[in-house]
Amino acid sequence: MESWPGVIERYGALIDLPPEAPPITLLEGGTPLVPAPRLAAELGADALYVKFEGLNPSGSFKDRGMTVAVSEALHRGARAIVCASTGNTAASAAAYAARAGVSCLVLVPQGKVAAGKLAGAIAYGAQVVQVEGSFDDALRLVREVSQRAPLALVNSINPYRLEGQKTAAFEICDALGRAPDWLALPVGNAGNITAYWMGFRLYHDQRRTGLPRLLGVQAAGAAPLVLGHAVDHPETVATAIRIGRPARGEQALEAAEESDGCIISVPDEAILAAQRDLAGEGLWVEPASAAGLAGMRAQVQAGRLSLRGKSVVCVCTGHGLKDPDIITSSFPAPRLIPPTMAALRDLLGL
Ligand code: F0G
Repeated sequence: MESWPGVIERYGALIDLPPEAPPITLLEGGTPLVPAPRLAAELGADALYVKFEGLNPSGSFKDRGMTVAVSEALHRGARAIVCASTGNTAASAAAYAARAGVSCLVLVPQGKVAAGKLAGAIAYGAQVVQVEGSFDDALRLVREVSQRAPLALVNSINPYRLEGQKTAAFEICDALGRAPDWLALPVGNAGNITAYWMGFRLYHDQRRTGLPRLLGVQAAGAAPLVLGHAVDHPETVATAIRIGRPARGEQALEAAEESDGCIISVPDEAILAAQRDLAGEGLWVEPASAAGLAGMRAQVQAGRLSLRGKSVVCVCTGHGLKDPDIITSSFPAPRLIPPTMAALRDLLGL
């Protein structure tokens, strides 16, 4: 079997990127679509799959968009890139900047970035700046600075990010041989749901597959698209989607509506419960990534949706390793014993 070549090589003909732009790639994409039969049974669905995007090179789906955005920026002659981030975009931008040999500046909200993301951005060599404020403040600053300084902006307001991210929709359709009936995913800055819809629409327009219904899921404390207005002080345990002014909010709402789906919110407890249940299937994802499953479950439990005979894909956007503290802080430290069989027997009651 041929090895996976990365999303630009694999789906180049369907991606709007100047053909002469040399790909900056870490062979992202090609992530597994893992069946989760117990969760399917619980929700009464015919089948439920997890698109495990945490297995991308920097640990999140952001790499799909970053390969295209950074390739395009370099092709235009950029020598430095910049982004605001709740963490994953930062780590991804830093990785692709390192790969390309250019510098990277990331602005993150103070104290609200999970340890694995911050460590990643630093490890890949980015200049990391904390902002006394939210992601939305950081995004406002990078938008402005990218107009004043020679810094290419690689947030998802950059259309090339979406060009790359839409490839996840192609992969799902290619793996299933059709579009799923439902696609459930977390919504933060709203780029990813927009990108998925672009991808599904493209395959549909080419008469390859049908269209799924989209369920976008926000955290209750950061749900501007559900409330219908910006949230000044978003708060949620799912720090990746702790966003009050989504840059692509309008497009996300349009995509959900066009698909005959919707955008809903779920409380943090439901997100954490879904995270535990996914881990119970052997899939450890970060809290935000569990929002899709939490949302599907909420819809089914409230009787708003029947999944009988339907197939569902939950997009799990980032790896659990990104946010170890959320797990370790809620469990007691493992027991410590002296290195003797007697002590181990004692502990196990043997
Ligand atoms: N899931 C994870 C793990 C994320 O990191 C993000 C966004 C989302 C879902 C939501 O995707 O913004 O396209 O709606 N993270 C951005 C970041 C904001 O800076 O890493 P979205």
